[in-house]
Amino acid sequence: MQAKPECITCVLTIVLLWWGSAADAELNLLNSGCSQYNVTNFRDFTGDLNSTFLRLREQLNDDSRHFATAEEASGVYAMVQCRNYLSRVDCLACFDAAVAEIRRCSAANGARVIYDGCFLRYESNNFYDQYTQEGHTMICGNKSASEPSAFAATVQDLLADLQVATPKISGYFAATEKEVVGGGNATVYGVAQCIETIAESGCRDCMQVANTDIQRCPPNTDGRAMDVGCFLRYSDSPFFADNQTIDITPFLTTPSSSSTRNGIIGGLVGGVALLLLLITLLVWFKRSAASNDLPIRGDILGATELRGPINYKYKDLSAATKKFSLQNKLGEGGFGEVFKGVLKNGKTVAIKKLAIMQSQRAKLDYESEVKLISNVHHRNLIRLLGCCNKGPELLLVYEYMKNSSLDKFLFGEGRGSLNWKQRCDIILGTARGLSYLHEEFHVCIIHRDIKSSNILLDDDFQPKIADFGLARLLPQDKSHLSTKFAGTLGYTAPEYAIHGQLSEKTDVYSYGIVVLEIVSGQRSHETTGDPDSFLLKKAWTLYENNMHHQLVEESLDGKEYEVEEAKRMVEIGLMCTQSAAALRPSMSEVVVLLKSKGSLESRPLTRPTIIDSTVGVEASTSTASSASVATLSITQISSR
Ligand SMILES: *[C@@H]1O[C@H](CO)[C@@H](O)[C@H](O)[C@H]1NC(C)=O
Ligand SMILES: *[C@@H]1O[C@H](CO)[C@@H](O)[C@H](O)[C@H]1NC(C)=O
Ligand SMILES: *[C@@H]1O[C@H](CO)[C@@H](O)[C@H](O)[C@H]1NC(C)=O
Ligand SMILES: *[C@@H]1O[C@H](CO)[C@@H](O)[C@H](O)[C@H]1NC(C)=O
Ligand SMILES: *[C@@H]1O[C@H](CO)[C@@H](O)[C@H](O)[C@H]1NC(C)=O
Repeated sequence: MQAKPECITCVLTIVLLWWGSAADAELNLLNSGCSQYNVTNFRDFTGDLNSTFLRLREQLNDDSRHFATAEEASGVYAMVQCRNYLSRVDCLACFDAAVAEIRRCSAANGARVIYDGCFLRYESNNFYDQYTQEGHTMICGNKSASEPSAFAATVQDLLADLQVATPKISGYFAATEKEVVGGGNATVYGVAQCIETIAESGCRDCMQVANTDIQRCPPNTDGRAMDVGCFLRYSDSPFFADNQTIDITPFLTTPSSSSTRNGIIGGLVGGVALLLLLITLLVWFKRSAASNDLPIRGDILGATELRGPINYKYKDLSAATKKFSLQNKLGEGGFGEVFKGVLKNGKTVAIKKLAIMQSQRAKLDYESEVKLISNVHHRNLIRLLGCCNKGPELLLVYEYMKNSSLDKFLFGEGRGSLNWKQRCDIILGTARGLSYLHEEFHVCIIHRDIKSSNILLDDDFQPKIADFGLARLLPQDKSHLSTKFAGTLGYTAPEYAIHGQLSEKTDVYSYGIVVLEIVSGQRSHETTGDPDSFLLKKAWTLYENNMHHQLVEESLDGKEYEVEEAKRMVEIGLMCTQSAAALRPSMSEVVVLLKSKGSLESRPLTRPTIIDSTVGVEASTSTASSASVATLSITQISSR
C-alpha cells in the first residue's frame, strides 16, 4: 500500500504533462492576416519588431501578465493577450507560436493572429484604443446540441451575463458556466475578454457586437466571436479549469436565475476522486481538441492597414468638428481649411477640407493618392488616418498635433521659446522626414511647399511635416504658376518659381530657408526696410565675412551652443539654397552632414546670383515669365 500515493502522483504527473502539452496552450488558430502594405525598410522594421516582441515576452514571463503592449518610436506597435485561464507557461507557449506564425507576414507593416489561447497583433500605427472594427467575425462549431432549444436558451443567458459583467470586472476577463436546465446534464462554459487599453465603454460596445455575432452559433455546441477589442467563446465542453471560474453575479444588474454552480466540488473530494475527475476532464479536453478543425468563416479582422485608409462617414466628421464650426478651425493651409475634431471614440484628429476641384477624374486621382499617402509611415511625417469622399467636400483626416506649427514658435506667440537643442532636433527631424519622402518611400514624393507653417511639432517638440503628397493632386498640364499651391514666396527655389523645373532639389532649397529661419528666428521674406536685411542675403553677407554665427537669434543663450556649431548649421542652410540645383545636397546627404561633426570645407559654397537683387523671385522682372511670377507673389501675399 506504500506505493499507492506514489503511483497516483506519477499517473497524475503523466496526465498533467500530456494535458499540459499543445492542447492546453490552446493553439487552435482561429484567424490570421497580413497587411497588404510592405514596410520600406525591412531590416530596421524587423529589428524593431524583434525588440518589441522581446519586451512583450518579458512582461508575460516576468510579471505573469496576460496582457502586454510594447512599441518603438520608429512606428512599431505590438499587443499580446492570453486568456486569463492559461498558466504562465501555456501563455508563453501560445505567444511563441503566435510570433512564429506572424513572422510569415514577412515585410507586411501590420499583422495579427488569433488563437483560442491568445492573440498577437502589430501595426505601424497605434491601435491600442480600437475596440470594434469592420471584419469582426464569428466561428461556429458544426455539431448541434442534443437538446437544441434548452441548450440555446442557456447559451443566450450565459452570453448575456458575460456581456454585462465583463466590462465591469477589473482586467476585463470573465469565465463562467451554466447548467442546461432540462438539457440532459449538459453544461455551457463561457469566456469573455477585452483588451486592457480600452475604456469600459469600449469593452461594452465590443461585447455587444461580439454577442450579436455569436448568436448565429447556438444550438451548435461551440461558438467564438472575435473583434479588435474583445473575444467571446462558449462551448459545451470545459476549456478552462474549474478553479478559473469567476463569480460574476456581483456584476450583473439583473439577478441571474441559476446561481447554483456545480464547479466547487473539486476541493472536497479525495485523491482518487480527483484523479477520476481529471481523467473525465481530459476525455472532454481531448474530444474538444479533436473537433478543433472548425470551419472558418467571415473576413479576416479589419485592422486599419489591411484595408488602406479608413473611409469616414461625412456625418461623423461633421459631428466631430461641430459642423465645421469656426471655433474648431485650426487654420488654413495651401489646400484648404483645417479643423480640430473629436471622433466618437474620443480620439482627437485634424480634418482638412480639400479645396480642389471635384471632377470625376480628380476624385479618382484623389483616391489613389490618399491610398499612397496613408501608407507613408515615418516619425517625422504627419500620419494620414483616413478620408471621406462621400459628401459635399473631400475631407482628409490626420493625426492631431497639440503644439501646432513651427512658425508659431519662431515668429508667433512662442517666439524665442525654443532652445538650441530643440532647434537642432527640428532641423534634423525635418531632414529625415524629407529624406524619407524623396529617397526611401517607394514613390519619390516632392513636397513642393516646405515652410515653417507646414512643420508641426509633437509633444516633445519633434517635427512632423504636413501636407506632403497633396501637390501631386494638382493637374499636370496646368502651369505650376497658375495655382497658389505651387509654392510659397520666400521659400520657393528660383528654378521652380521662374521655369517650373521641379525636382527633389526644389524641396532642398525650401528646407535650407527653413533652417535659416530656425537659426535666426527671422521670417524669410521679412525685412526691416533695408533690402540687405532679407534673411538669405543677410546670411550670405555674414558668411562671406566669416561672421555667420551672428545670424543666431539674439535671445538664445550663447552658452547653449558653440560658435562652430552655429556656423555649421548656417552653412548647411546656405548649401541647400545655392542657385544651381545640382550644387545642393540631397536630403540624405543633409542628414549625414547634420549628424557628423566634421568640417564642411570640402564643399565650398557658391553665392546665389538671385540674391543680388532684392527678393528671390521678384528679381526676375526681366525674364519672360515675370508676369506670372509677379502673380504668384501677389497671390501668396494676399492669401496670408
Ligand atoms: C510584400 O513583400 C512580399 C515578400 O516579402 C511580396 O511577396 C509581396 O508581393 C509584397 N507586397 C507588396 C504589395 O509589395
Ligand atoms: C529578428 O528575429 C528573427 C527570428 O529570431 C531573425 O531571423 C531575424 O534575423 C531578426 N532580425 C533582426 C533585424 O534582428
Ligand atoms: C464538421 O466539420 C468537420 C471539419 O470540417 C467535418 O469533417 C465534419 O464532417 C463536419 N460535420 C458535420 C456534421 O457537418
Ligand atoms: C444525468 O446524470 C444522472 C446522474 O449522474 C444520470 O442518472 C442520468 O441518466 C443522466 N441523464 C442523462 C440524460 O444523461
Ligand atoms: C487550478 O487547478 C489546477 C489543476 O486543476 C492547478 O494546477 C492550479 O494550481 C489551480 N489554480 C489555482 C489558482 O488554484
